[in-house]
Amino acid sequence: MQNELGLTLSQVTESAAIAAHKWLGRGDKNLADNAAVEAMRFELNNANIDATIIIGEGEIDDAPMLYIGEKLGKGGSAIDIAVDPIEGTRMTAMGQANALAVLAAAEKGTLLQAPDMYMEKLVVGKSAKGAIDLNLTIEENVINIAKALGKELQDIVVATLAKPRHDSTIQSLLALGIKVYAYPDGDVAASLLACLPQSEVDIMYCIGGAPEGVITATLVKALDGDMQARLLTRDAVKGATKENIEFARSELARCKEMGVATDVILALSDMVKSQNVIFCATGITKGDLVDGIQKHGPYLTTETLLIQGRNRTIRMIKSTHDIEQADDQLQKHIA
Ligand code: FBP
Repeated sequence: MQNELGLTLSQVTESAAIAAHKWLGRGDKNLADNAAVEAMRFELNNANIDATIIIGEGEIDDAPMLYIGEKLGKGGSAIDIAVDPIEGTRMTAMGQANALAVLAAAEKGTLLQAPDMYMEKLVVGKSAKGAIDLNLTIEENVINIAKALGKELQDIVVATLAKPRHDSTIQSLLALGIKVYAYPDGDVAASLLACLPQSEVDIMYCIGGAPEGVITATLVKALDGDMQARLLTRDAVKGATKENIEFARSELARCKEMGVATDVILALSDMVKSQNVIFCATGITKGDLVDGIQKHGPYLTTETLLIQGRNRTIRMIKSTHDIEQADDQLQKHIA
């Protein structure tokens, strides 16, 4: 994939973030998500690419989606895309920090295809590469990672999501003296923190969405970090109720169709096969990684993190957009 494709794709997440921002603090995550989806679809269809959505959101929270297998683009480089038009739909709807518009691309045939279901994920940066093993407990992993990093346990920071399913893991990590940063949502951002050189986070562990997991795998590959994951059915994550067991049956059927297994450890190379990947994230609301959208008179500013695996570069792109022009563009998305 050419370098220029990074700029093209960063404009896609910029548009999605601008569209989502219209719904900031309006209490409706689906309307925000829909706006971001339509913006991404419009921009991707206008790009010189021959893209296939390999994994996207939609099935976990019944949100509108760019569906798996959807073809996009005017023709050009053959690429696979993993999307999360809004990573943090609740944060956008509630006006909270750290919501991002996110997209990852890779050469055709190099990304894992899986249903939109749950995934257990363990992520570390370059310095702890090779020190993770999901066959072991999280506590054992953290001890091994601390050894690899040459750090005391009390100096290790684990990022996770503040979800009830993680309560016991969080408690046992705290009991070991480890610092835990538990975010309400957004494990892509938390994984970025584990991989970016200037961050104090060493590890990201959580059970979250599989699309976010595949997107994360691209940034981990690009930054030479490490990741292991495991697809999990809804009953295993949310409890074996009649409804969840029924739902899990359909997840297992979809896994069979796609040729992926649940409860099996996936190495980074199972999720992304090439280093030639592009990851883009534009801030919707102000966050730890990028600024959110800001208004300055007749202009909007966006901040985008663009990571390219081919040359292992991390770029921050600050763009200024004319509001009238951006509004015209928004009208086109829904026309
Ligand atoms: P969305 O905003 O795309 O719904 O994702 C937010 C998120 O926190 C992800 O980062 C995470 O992978 C997933 O939700 C976890 O799912 P759940 O909300 O069901 O716990």
